[in-house]
Amino acid sequence: MSEHPDPLRLFARQALRTALVPAWFEALDLKEGDTVVDLGCGAGYVSLRAATAVGNAGTVHAVDSNTEAVAFLEDLAKLHGLDQIRCHVQSIPELVPLSERPRGALLTMVLHHLPEPAAALAHLAEALHGAPILIAEFDATGPCRVGPGREMRVSRSGVEAAIEEAGLVAHGFQQQTEEHWFVLASAPE
Ligand SMILES: C[S@@+](CC[C@H](N)C(=O)[O-])C[C@H]1O[C@@H](n2cnc3c(N)ncnc32)[C@H](O)[C@@H]1O
Repeated sequence: MSEHPDPLRLFARQALRTALVPAWFEALDLKEGDTVVDLGCGAGYVSLRAATAVGNAGTVHAVDSNTEAVAFLEDLAKLHGLDQIRCHVQSIPELVPLSERPRGALLTMVLHHLPEPAAALAHLAEALHGAPILIAEFDATGPCRVGPGREMRVSRSGVEAAIEEAGLVAHGFQQQTEEHWFVLASAPE
């Protein structure tokens, strides 16, 4: 049996965070024609939203190590004729470098899954040619009524320390709800 949740269940869980998504795209200044990378895309709820934001002229690279979730997204993209979504089964700390710098990358509700966040971020900085990475997480001080338990969550200070250790700069922190926040990690000027 798969160690992963059923893709439909995963998609439904992702869709519960629908109200968070516009501010992520705004923080990356995502526009029509842009390329964006959805790291840890799961069953692709955010990738589908990103595909609408960048339009037919844009590109969404959707990356996850969960083969079934990526296949689910691939089917959905095909069904809706969203050719701008390119699906990749890859592990984030080993992401194959992109040929060009994208507008940005989404690393939403994923960092707490990565055992070595600073090393992963350092690799991403190179693979994405210094493009900004939007890191969204569950608040470790929140009530934990939605999302993973407190023991799974990472602290804001821990994430900011990992960003610095990776040689990046943390900025643009936003508390979105009592359970969710995000911060941008960018290459120093
Ligand atoms: C909580 S889901 C978040 C999905 C999506 N980013 C969102 O915001 O709705 C976490 C996702 O990260 C993926 N993930 C965890 N570790 C990963 C890794 N090392 N490489 C690629 N994907 C990973 C999981 O397979 C899962 O789909």
